[in-house]
Formats: sequence, C-alpha cells, structure tokens
Amino acid sequence: MDTTTAAPPVRGRYRDDPRALRALVRDDAVHRDVYLDREVFELEMERLWSRTWIYVGHDSQVPNPGDYATTDLAGRPVMMVRGEDGTVRVLMNRCAHKGAKLVSEPSGNVGRFFRCPYHAWAYDLDGGVRAIPLKGGYEGTGFAQSAASGGLSVVRHTVNYRGFVFSRLSEAGPDFESYFGASLTSIDNLVDRSPEGRLEVAGGVLRYDHDCNWKMFVENLNDTMHPMVAHESSAGTAKKLWAGKPADAPRPMAIEQFVPFASSYEFFDGMGVRVFDHGHGYTGVHGSIHSKYSQVPEYESAMVAAYGTERAHAILGEVRHNTVYYPSLTIKGAIQAIRVARPIAPDRTIVESWTFRLAGAPDALLRRTMMYSRLINSPMSVVGHDDLHCYRAIQEGLAASGNPWISLHRDFDPAELAGGDRTVKGTSEVSMRNQFRAWARHMAPDATEGAGA
Ligand code: FES
Ligand SMILES: [Fe+2]
Repeated sequence: MDTTTAAPPVRGRYRDDPRALRALVRDDAVHRDVYLDREVFELEMERLWSRTWIYVGHDSQVPNPGDYATTDLAGRPVMMVRGEDGTVRVLMNRCAHKGAKLVSEPSGNVGRFFRCPYHAWAYDLDGGVRAIPLKGGYEGTGFAQSAASGGLSVVRHTVNYRGFVFSRLSEAGPDFESYFGASLTSIDNLVDRSPEGRLEVAGGVLRYDHDCNWKMFVENLNDTMHPMVAHESSAGTAKKLWAGKPADAPRPMAIEQFVPFASSYEFFDGMGVRVFDHGHGYTGVHGSIHSKYSQVPEYESAMVAAYGTERAHAILGEVRHNTVYYPSLTIKGAIQAIRVARPIAPDRTIVESWTFRLAGAPDALLRRTMMYSRLINSPMSVVGHDDLHCYRAIQEGLAASGNPWISLHRDFDPAELAGGDRTVKGTSEVSMRNQFRAWARHMAPDATEGAGA
C-alpha cells in the first residue's frame, strides 16, 4: 500500500513551478523561503521527508512483544512495534475502519493485539485484522476487496541498522545502504563503544519545542563558527571560573563538558569536517570537544577484554563531534547521545534528546551522557538556550526586506559540487551546502533516483 497518500495538494508558486523551487538553492547561498514558506514546508514533508530514510526510533524502546513507541514521519502518525516473532515493524497509527489512532500514549505495551478505542476492531502486532465486532454485517458488501480489510498500513521500507530503525515512506527513493553509505561508520562507532556491541535507551527523553525551522537546528550541529560566540556567556563563564587551576587538579564533569565549547577558531578548524552524498556529514574528523574527557579505567579494561587492545583503542580513538544523518537524526557517538528533529510547522520543531547505556560498560558512562544531555541539551540547560535564541533570532530576522539570501560562502570550493566523500577544514560551511544540494535533489518533483549521488 502506498503510505504517502495524503490530502489533495495545495496549489501554489513552488508546487506549480519546479524552476522557482530549484532557484531557492544556489551553490553558495539559499533563499529565505526555505525556512519561512509554508508551501515549501509542505513540499519538504511530501518529498524530502517521504523519499528519504527518516529515523523512527531505537529498537531498545520496544524490547518485548507488544511494546510500541509512537512518533510521526513526515507528519503521519506511526508506531514502532515489536511483533510476536521479535521483529520490529513500523505501522501507521490509524485504524483501518474510520481512521482513529489506535494508541495515544508515547509508548506502552498492548499485549497480543491492538484494539481500537472507537468500535473495537482488533489487529495483530503485524497489522493484520484479528477481529471485527458483528463481522457478519460485512458479508456480501465488497468489504473483502476494500483497503480496510487489509488491516493497518505497514511502512514496508523499514531497516533496523544495529538497533537504529529508519523508514522511507515513499515507494520510490534511494535504498538504505546507498543513501547513508560510509556515514554509517558513525553509528558503527557508537554501537562498538559497548563492550557487548549493544545499546539501550536510558535516562528518559527530553522533548524540546523549538520555535524555529527544523533546518536551523540540523545545520547548527556542524556550524563550528558559533560556539565561541553564542556560548561565550555559558561555556566562556565556565572557562573563566576554571582558569588558573593547577593542571593536575581533578576537573568536575561539568567543567570538562562546558569548557571545550569556548575553544578557539583554530581548534574547531583542526577538528575537520567530512561530508557524504545525500546531505550527511560530521565534524570531529581529527579530534573534537570530547577528546579530552577523563578516562574511565574500568571501561577501557572492559573494551580491551571485548575487542583486544588495538581494536579497542581504534574504537575509542574516534571522537566524532556531531554526525548528521540528513534530515532527521544527529548523533554524538563519543558520548552515546542522539538528537532527533521532528518538524511540526515552518517555524516549529520538536527536538528529542535521547541518551544510551552502553551494554557491558560501567554506570559512569551513563552518568556522563545524562549530565551532558541536561547541561547542554535540556530545556533547563544554559548552552542549548544560546542556540535556541539564535535560531529564533534568524526566524524573525529573515522577515526583513532588502536581502532575501542567506550566505553559505565560507570556504566554498567549486570542486565540492561533484559530490562524494570529502574532508576539509572544520570551519568550512561545506556541510550546510552539502545538505542543501541534497535538499534540492530530493525536493525536485520527479526525484526518483536510486543509488548514487
Ligand atoms: S475507528 Fe477504529 S474500529 Fe472504528
Ligand atoms: Fe551551539
């Protein structure tokens, strides 16, 4: 079943004129309508967010048969469900009868079947119809040939990659492996950081309502020209507080996590940035703000015991900063945390912040990621607020007249237009240009290409 069926499209300037849509993205600049225009936002949901692989959730959110976790994909309500056979599926959260959502809680366990709260149609965990009250009323009516008799819509294009569940709503689009390519090494590194090669969500989720376009958040993850400016009041204060302390003084975890945000331009340049086709990329190729965290000896011993010395050091030596799995998922492998963008409107985005337990690792690692999530990412943090202030300032500032363009010129190199795996200095704006090249490709009305750039 085509899971992208939606309301009739609203006709308008960008839907009816592909050239106008394409003209929003130049090699080194983008038009403000990519952040402000409601029709562009609707087209993003119908095209970019439906034709590409969107992060649904982690399979450890649904460890047992009957467990479910709800979310939305491109504005459509879905649920990730663990079946009787142990398989994790993604189903539309929409009754086959009159369309009621089957479950309204963020997560839970339904036992052996779903039961609609309206007229009690029941569905197996794989979406098939299990029972309908007074079923005889449908005999000889054509019901058996209708879509309703097929049960819940299954999002067929779903891949569980090492616990990370992604779905593609559209029948047409790139396959999973060619879409993510070598960027999957960031998920590999995160999972390999568990001595048992397994992650579990832990510490709850922080859902943070951002009054800005989703792209501002996603672009900011690899914007290395802002931390020393936007975070001067928070990280800069921590740096001043710690200045002058003896080099061997034990650093509180909060100081370890705050201070690197106040690093110099040279530091962020040296981190390097690497981009891949389809908008993915990461900063922290050669080191990152996470490189100097205190070691946890019991953890290193557990890693060496699991992988051997050389491999354990190779895994722990990768300290990538933020990896963007365009457009929905961003991960911080070095501290086992992820943030997920869930667009609601042109100027509204829910950002989810999740933390993981590394199976087989000491609790100190979980404490570290939870502290980071609360200090840096949470609604009560100081660093995350700095970013949010800037996102909102852009959202409001772009209404100004005189210049509708946003500059992405920093370190532009025409050679990057050829695409492919590319590593350059950390302060380049290459990752934003790379994201918008993917945006333009997947926003085209007829974008149906499979593998490759
Ligand atoms: S809407 Fe679900 S059973 Fe009627
Ligand atoms: Fe920031």
